[in-house]
Amino acid sequence: MALPSHEAADTYVQQAGSACALPGQASGEPCTIVIFGASGDLTNRKLIPALFSLHGSASLPARFTIVGCSRTAMHHEEFRARLREACAGHPAFTVERWESFAASLFYQPLVYDSQPSFVELARFLAELDQERQTGGNRLFYLAIPPSLYPVVAGLLGTVGLATEGNNMGWTRIVVEKPFGRDLATAMELDRRLHQNFREHQIFRIDHYLAKETVQNILMLRFANTIFEPLWNRSFIDSIGIIAGEKLGVEHRAGYYEQAGVLRDMFQNHMMQLLALIAMEPPSLFEADRVRDEKVKVYRALKPFVADGLQENLILGQYNAGRIDGMPVPGYRDEPGVTPASLTPTFAMMRLFIDNWRWRGIPFYLVSGKRLPAKLTRIEVQFKEVPHSMFRDVLGGQINANRLVLGIHPQEEITLSFQAKQPGARVCLQPVTMDFKYDEKFKGPSPDAYEKVLLDCILGDQMLFWRQDGVELCWSFLSPILAACETCRDQAGLLHPYPAGTWGPEQAAAWLQLINEPN
Ligand code: BG6
Repeated sequence: MALPSHEAADTYVQQAGSACALPGQASGEPCTIVIFGASGDLTNRKLIPALFSLHGSASLPARFTIVGCSRTAMHHEEFRARLREACAGHPAFTVERWESFAASLFYQPLVYDSQPSFVELARFLAELDQERQTGGNRLFYLAIPPSLYPVVAGLLGTVGLATEGNNMGWTRIVVEKPFGRDLATAMELDRRLHQNFREHQIFRIDHYLAKETVQNILMLRFANTIFEPLWNRSFIDSIGIIAGEKLGVEHRAGYYEQAGVLRDMFQNHMMQLLALIAMEPPSLFEADRVRDEKVKVYRALKPFVADGLQENLILGQYNAGRIDGMPVPGYRDEPGVTPASLTPTFAMMRLFIDNWRWRGIPFYLVSGKRLPAKLTRIEVQFKEVPHSMFRDVLGGQINANRLVLGIHPQEEITLSFQAKQPGARVCLQPVTMDFKYDEKFKGPSPDAYEKVLLDCILGDQMLFWRQDGVELCWSFLSPILAACETCRDQAGLLHPYPAGTWGPEQAAAWLQLINEPN
């Protein structure tokens, strides 16, 4: 279900017990979507299939244009032919659908640091606007290397393409992570973006926020009364957030060598999951109120003390091993990786949120590549019963309740509790109550990129990072990164683990605390 624009947020459709904000059918005003990096991987794999799918479900505005830009010299037809291949595997692909979509696709070659090239782009967009009546509304999507973000944003400003208002239509710019590589570079990137764009025009994507099950965390917590009274340090023992992958670094060594797991997964996706699970209820389901509450969580993160680093952080790097029975190389043998690389591919972090609700409760964040399974889930571990009246018959300990929010591969919510095993003797057994998304909700759910593109067109920033959040997360992580990367024994901090296992053995004890995944 598409989240509503601000205007639509008040409108509810009541249907047999369900409350749905109206989805944005034929969403938003006419517009032109300009994709920089149009010959790249992201455009082919994600952006164009998502736009094709939105077009197929009549979710795009009635009048829209897509303009691809990149250095490659190409004609419109050549560009369309390439993109047709990218969409051919889509379940809804038919020749008629493709032709109807392709009629809105155009291509404009561009040199990213050349002002004349941007002048030419502005001329082309003005012409298209006239012809196709798209009202001067423009969405600029930066599917290009981050080093080019300030360059492109700057030239858009110089040639007048960043300006909005005065009957010129709206202008928005979409940036993908990484937003800098530490606090200083994130602030500098923001300064450069803000030279030409204002905050309401900037959409910083985190595709985790567009996952249905991630969005559902807020619904579970704040659209039900039974969880929230227990959602605090009095009843919860610990919370685990796990995002494990089977994949290795693949063809992205150039980027990953610079990033490592902390910048690649923690500074963004893991922090968003943390905020959703730990935040206070906003007064309204509206972009800034939700983001205000997330920011308060980041502000309350307890800083790591440099000499306590190893108590709270375990880093690892995969060696050769086996995944699904097949041999896979170690990280250092992957193409493009330096043979003595010290880049972590696994991290387990224990952090604390210093506020009334969470003081003293550990949050375990785990993410790694080349683990035995792709597994994304949040585990809320409740405390044990304060006193067991069954201790004479069962011994002291009774397994405590656990609520698991499964994001991948199972989209599910599971609550475990104790039940009496049938029979004359008193015997308890842990059982679960399971809710599976795919059993309850039939039909395809939108891909994360469909969701974010639609929200950009609608101007709804709910699912996007706000700069204060980005900076607070960097303020927390930058000292940790600096301590890891400048410490005398950097290699000593990095524990090897065989591909196909749940990370270094040093993490095993912590992993058990949050229920070793199996
Ligand atoms: C990306 C990271 O942001 O998220 C990748 O750069 C990672 O390294 C990916 O593989 C994981 O996303 P998902 O949706 O597959 O969990």
